[in-house]
Amino acid sequence: MKFFLDTADIKEIREAQETGLLDGITTNPSHVAKSGRNFIELVKEICELVPGPVSAEVTAEGKDEMLRQGRFLADLAPNVVVKVPLTQEGIKAVKVFSEEGIKTNVTLCFSSVQALLAAKVGATYISPFVGRVDDIGSEGMKTIFEIRKIYDNYGFTTQILTASTRSALHIQQAALAGSDVSTMPMALFKKLVNNPLTDIGLKLFDTDWNKIPEEYRTY
Ligand code: E4P
Repeated sequence: MKFFLDTADIKEIREAQETGLLDGITTNPSHVAKSGRNFIELVKEICELVPGPVSAEVTAEGKDEMLRQGRFLADLAPNVVVKVPLTQEGIKAVKVFSEEGIKTNVTLCFSSVQALLAAKVGATYISPFVGRVDDIGSEGMKTIFEIRKIYDNYGFTTQILTASTRSALHIQQAALAGSDVSTMPMALFKKLVNNPLTDIGLKLFDTDWNKIPEEYRTY
């Protein structure tokens, strides 16, 4: 499963890149607002920094303006993926983008039926939000299992990009469901490596190692 970072923060992107685990970036208007940067300059900088796919979201509501914005974004760098909301107009725009060879990430997906629509119009990625569904007392991850089944039933190549992840459990469940990608905030990305038993085990090894006479453990 690929790991994308859900951020528009250059510092976080550089830090995640050093781990060798980073496969791509997803941004959204909220992340861009938080960065305080010019949107286009920011997208260009991220695309130069990260060789993998970089999602940049259109903000128009109508198909024609979505197409204009998406084509503009796609022209910025070869690794731009145009992020489009899962609306009627968005679906129409994705159909055109697919015919033009422009990669898309259909976002704000909350059901497997919506994901089916995105696949039918040739979306590159579908982004079901799991955390926001959990937040309102439903089971977000169920949708990921359903989409995997539906896509496999019909041989759709749209990649499942599990989004709105909040915990290591979400990442584990996404991998078990066969999600192609998980995008996550930096705080979660950093937490994935942690396990208290690793820390306890390391401390014990260190203690035992220091019991060995120094001349026997110098190399
Ligand atoms: C994904 O592309 C979205 O930007 C993101 O995962 C949303 O996450 P949130 O629900 O934590 O805002």
